[in-house]
Amino acid sequence: MTPKNQTHSPSRKPISHMKQLFKEQHILMMLLKEFRDGILICDQQGLILQVNPSLRNFLHLSEEVSGREVTQVIRNEPFHDLLGAVLATGNSCVEEITLVEGPSPEMFFEVHMVPIFIPVLGENDLPETQAEPGQTVNGCVIIFHDITDIRKTEKMRRDFVANVSHELRTPLTAIEGYSETLLDGAIDDQTVCRDFINVIYRHSLRLTQLVEDLLDLSKLESPDYKPDFTPVSLQTLIQQAFVLVQDKAVEKEIKISVTVQEPLPLVMADSSSLQQVLTNLLDNAIKYTPTQGEVSIGVYENSKGKIQVDVKDNGIGIEGKHLSRIFERFYRVDKARSRDMGGTGLGLSIVKHIVQLHGGEIWVDSKVNEGSTFSFTVDPQPV
Ligand SMILES: Nc1ncnc2c1ncn2[C@@H]1O[C@H](COP(=O)(O)OP(=O)(O)OP(=O)(O)O)[C@@H](O)[C@H]1O
Ligand SMILES: [Mg+2]
Repeated sequence: MTPKNQTHSPSRKPISHMKQLFKEQHILMMLLKEFRDGILICDQQGLILQVNPSLRNFLHLSEEVSGREVTQVIRNEPFHDLLGAVLATGNSCVEEITLVEGPSPEMFFEVHMVPIFIPVLGENDLPETQAEPGQTVNGCVIIFHDITDIRKTEKMRRDFVANVSHELRTPLTAIEGYSETLLDGAIDDQTVCRDFINVIYRHSLRLTQLVEDLLDLSKLESPDYKPDFTPVSLQTLIQQAFVLVQDKAVEKEIKISVTVQEPLPLVMADSSSLQQVLTNLLDNAIKYTPTQGEVSIGVYENSKGKIQVDVKDNGIGIEGKHLSRIFERFYRVDKARSRDMGGTGLGLSIVKHIVQLHGGEIWVDSKVNEGSTFSFTVDPQPV
């Protein structure tokens, strides 16, 4: 900007002003274009003069909006009230608003509204940037700072704490109640005493499992955690996982079959983590399949050159509406049923984390009463 005290030759002044104006306009346009925050400039009537590409993106605007009323383009009552107040009073403001535009879910913005004051220029005047007291407002610059990720993370943290507290409370309440009853005299009855101690033992196992799962999750989510990738034989890992779930399968008379494409290359994996994936998927397949059901594991190189593992069961299956949420922490189709079976609802989220840390993908196909197939991929050892 030209300093106020600079002298100008009268004949050259209009051209230098034009150049200056052009330069400033160009800088302004570049700023608007590059800004990651959304920016909207409107006049004193609330008619749009400019919107930058970021805001067009946030609002999914495909058509030209210059000249349209802000209230027609951003349909949000509290936002209109704020803008009305800024244009009426000339006071800037900062507020949080929530917008739902087009197909997107809610977006959260910190909105800064700054009134524009344009002084009337005389022949030799230079533009003023400060408002004079009592000056009328000529428009408003609105900055939309996207805080959606911050709000989402906060919500996830709140939900997580609420879920963990809830999961802890159930077994703790049971342990407390049963011990109290024992101390109040039930301990003298041999049969009752044994039953109660059994319940206490089951709930303490549940607590241990929950804490172990939470520790696993926090390890996997830590930015410092680096899996120890080595060439691993999937056949060996499947055998080890099989040993761990064998008792449960035998108890329910569930047959487990394994089909491995030969020759199968080794895979690049953290062997204990990948074993946890297989164990969790097998454990689920057995848990959610009725007695005398069938579970099969298929391992082969898929059309994309990845090694794919399918864990298939002919169990209860999962209704379509749950499929997109099944890998979320604590998500269970039937909470009561899963809890009764000692489940924490963290198994599949741990599995998903591990597969993703290996650069693989995981998905599920399922039909109610027909069964489910959980599939994941992992990279083969480079040749
Ligand atoms: N093979 C399956 N068949 C049917 N439903 C399944 C299957 N695997 C998972 N589910 C559903 O997905 C939910 C989440 O599975 P997940 O393994 O995360 O938790 P869980 O088995 O309940 O408990 P845990 O954390 O102890 O494994 C289960 O509660 C169940 O409703
Ligand atoms: Mg499970």
